[in-house]
Amino acid sequence: MSILVTGGAGFIGSHLARALLARGERVVAIDNFNDYYDPAIKRANAAQLSTYPAFTLVEGDIRDAATVDALFAAHDIRRVAHLAAMAGVRESMRQPRLYFAVNVDGTLNLLDAAQRHGCENFVLASTSSVYGETKRLPFNEEDAADRPLAAYPASKRAAELLAHTFHHLYGMNITALRFFNVYGPAGRPDMMPMRVMEAILDGTEVPVFNGGDIYRDWTYIDDTVAGVIAALDRPLGYEIINLGVGAPISLREFIETIEALAGRQLHTRSVPTPPTDPPITFCDNSKARRLLGFAPSIPVREGLARTWEWFRAWKISIGQWPE
Ligand SMILES: NC(=O)c1ccc[n+]([C@@H]2O[C@H](COP(=O)([O-])OP(=O)(O)OC[C@H]3O[C@@H](n4cnc5c(N)ncnc54)[C@H](O)[C@@H]3O)[C@@H](O)[C@H]2O)c1
Repeated sequence: MSILVTGGAGFIGSHLARALLARGERVVAIDNFNDYYDPAIKRANAAQLSTYPAFTLVEGDIRDAATVDALFAAHDIRRVAHLAAMAGVRESMRQPRLYFAVNVDGTLNLLDAAQRHGCENFVLASTSSVYGETKRLPFNEEDAADRPLAAYPASKRAAELLAHTFHHLYGMNITALRFFNVYGPAGRPDMMPMRVMEAILDGTEVPVFNGGDIYRDWTYIDDTVAGVIAALDRPLGYEIINLGVGAPISLREFIETIEALAGRQLHTRSVPTPPTDPPITFCDNSKARRLLGFAPSIPVREGLARTWEWFRAWKISIGQWPE
């Protein structure tokens, strides 16, 4: 009996796979190691996971239905955490077709194979970006979320809707989790925390939207992983659930917190917020608390302190720490 983690070599997927392996689960991961960011990072994640005998890695592409079907045929997969995706908001302006091919067609392949092979519970990674520039704060799952600002959230909302069809027609248990800005050790290099830490170290300038006057509801990776595991453990029919802390802070304060940890200033340059990005994300997590027992416990200062510690140790280990 295995749990399939798609995108298992990625940031959230590798943390999730490790937590599942640590509690004694068998984990199968599929990843195509694409070069949206340095694939060496994904290779390193996969190499760490491969030290667990109960871990199986399949290098493959979820856009290929035969590959996905073979995965289910070869392994006794009962639960799925579907995290594989093209995940950058702004890049989706440049490559909307790729985003739909991976995030919608790829999800369709997963849902179809999971249904035919008798999967008991399917957890789908969605995003707070589906709320777009909604005026309703905090973001609540009852919001229509039908005004996406980019192809990325449009593709994720499409995947949520497709998932409902599979629940309706085949009775599948599917929970779509809307993650809110996840950060932590070995985080994605295209996201703000890693970009700020790298730039503080090498003295480069970071463009900052609207002078840092935009607000994000940051969620530490361990809290996100706990929420995903709770969803894997609880078949709920069909649900869409926000997974975030509910405490947005400004980008300015976020950067100042990292500067205090590093004891150095970041060089910034204010740029207009692109039309793909809303001024605020703000999670109403009452549904996650009620249905999943979700109780995020890591405030952003603590999470950034842990992330900075990891970053420092990592840079020292690869000989890139100054002094
Ligand atoms: N990190 C966040 O803040 C955040 C916020 C909201 C939603 N999400 C969602 O969570 C999930 C995981 O995000 P992440 O931050 O870990 O991103 P990530 O890019 O680190 O992980 C995604 C993984 O999927 C793999 N992948 C992409 N296309 C694939 C394909 N065609 N076939 C097989 N594998 C493929 C990538 O190689 C990568 O390892 C994604 O679905 C993302 O949309 C993330």
